[in-house]
Amino acid sequence: MPTVRDLKEKAGAEPITMLTAYDAPTAEIVDEQGVDVILVGDSVGNTSLGHETTLPVTVDDTARHVGAVSRATEDALVVADMPFLSFGVDEKDSLENAGRMLKEEGAHAVKLESGPHTVELTERMVQLGIPVMAHLGLTPQHVNQYGGYPRQGTDRDAAERILELARAHEEAGAFSLVLEHVPSNLAAEVTDALDIPTIGIGAGPDCDGQVLVIDDAVGLSEWSPSFSKQFGDVREEMEAAVADYVSAVESETFPADEHSHEESDLEDVY
Ligand code: KIV
Repeated sequence: MPTVRDLKEKAGAEPITMLTAYDAPTAEIVDEQGVDVILVGDSVGNTSLGHETTLPVTVDDTARHVGAVSRATEDALVVADMPFLSFGVDEKDSLENAGRMLKEEGAHAVKLESGPHTVELTERMVQLGIPVMAHLGLTPQHVNQYGGYPRQGTDRDAAERILELARAHEEAGAFSLVLEHVPSNLAAEVTDALDIPTIGIGAGPDCDGQVLVIDDAVGLSEWSPSFSKQFGDVREEMEAAVADYVSAVESETFPADEHSHEESDLEDVY
């Protein structure tokens, strides 16, 4: 299993691969394909739980999905994405919620959507043995403040704030940093300024690694952001398989003889 130290060492040497996963079979596939980091994103709210945003995701939701992913993962580093208001309100609750992911669910680290309010918390978590992945740029838990999901760091002041916060989180002990939906030249600048690896999503090619939401990457999502790329068309495959099943049952060609068995002992009964 790569440790957070291995990941730090990869920075600048080899591109880091990260994908989300929310369930055991998906985690198994992602792990077997050699992805370095599996993020159990709070995007589970959108992808799997039918919510419009990530805000309704609970600590129990996260714990259940982290457990499923951890049990199915042999090699990748499993990171639990801490849901909205599960951290940053009260320090004790923040530490217990994050600690639960490592202690009970088998995660190796947590991710916090970061800001000025997570610098000290990151330091405290790291002191206690909870590795922290920071996340700057577009932080979807702020959807109501943004009024949507706009690109971040697009003017000099905003870019400077992201750079300062990135440095502050590195200083606080974060082992890596996700940069979401920021200009690629800002991501390159942040990557250059830090020793810890940056992992980009909609942040251009110069980060130390890349992350995508699995449903977007495999083509399961109905809609995906413009910075994402579909590497397959799982939705089309599933639609075709489900349509075949429906037509096989309706036309009574399924189940066939090979899917059924008769018990000779019951011949006189039925
Ligand atoms: O929740 C998530 O999937 C994420 C990634 C997009 C980085 O935070």
